Amino acid sequence: MLEAGVPNLDVVLGGGVSVGSFNLIAGGPGVGKTIVSQQIMFHNATPENPALHFTVLGEPVVKLLRYQSRFPFFDPSRVKTAVRYVDIGDVIRKEGLDGGLEVIVSRVERYSPAIVIIDSVRAVREIACGGGDYGLRTFTHDLAQVAVVWNATSFMIGEYEESEIRSGPEFTMADGIIWMAMEKVQNSVVRKLQVVKSRGMPIVPGLHSFRLDQHGV
Ligand SMILES: Nc1ncnc2c1ncn2[C@@H]1O[C@H](COP(=O)(O)OP(=O)(O)OP(=O)(O)O)[C@@H](O)[C@H]1O
Ligand SMILES: [Mg+2]
Repeated sequence: MLEAGVPNLDVVLGGGVSVGSFNLIAGGPGVGKTIVSQQIMFHNATPENPALHFTVLGEPVVKLLRYQSRFPFFDPSRVKTAVRYVDIGDVIRKEGLDGGLEVIVSRVERYSPAIVIIDSVRAVREIACGGGDYGLRTFTHDLAQVAVVWNATSFMIGEYEESEIRSGPEFTMADGIIWMAMEKVQNSVVRKLQVVKSRGMPIVPGLHSFRLDQHGV
């Protein structure tokens, strides 16, 4: 079991995230997906059980580091030892999705991470929609397939509409789905989180309100 390390999220998850599971953190823009993934990563990563974070086009590594470093959970002394960031935007732009997948696989083989994060698959999907036989469906499927043989717990992050959760192939393949959203309540916005599924875990179903502040989620 992997602790999320986000206050109360482990309760909602029914104890945590299963080791080796393939998870999606999904929701619209700005809901807090990247922050949650960074919290999970810094809570668990050690030099012996490192984490690999792949960024895909959406958020270049420098930009990501700049704003994640404001949070107390971000520990710069662990970057490059326990936590490694890899930008695969360039390789995807030049060599397409199969090239991106190759880099992911080679880095995973090199570092044997305990945690793999891919942020975000929305960017991947945009390229996939642009044409080519090797579309998102194949990419996600291949990713899920290779992830099975990794000893890693993986988190794919993606911007999705709520309606897509029922149709996307990646949602069927995932062992766990965390859905995050912002709901308008009168003039305020309330942040909500739902564990849509987590195979084998006694989750607490339903929407849970959460707060995002200078400490993270
Ligand atoms: N110190 C803070 N206090 C309150 N809210 C904050 C703070 N820092 C960031 N946020 C909020 O966090 C949100 C961004 O979180 P995050 O980057 O994790 O979102 P995301 O879901 O990954 O978005 P995207 O899909 O655009 O990448 C923004 O809505 C921002 O307002
Ligand atoms: Mg993000």
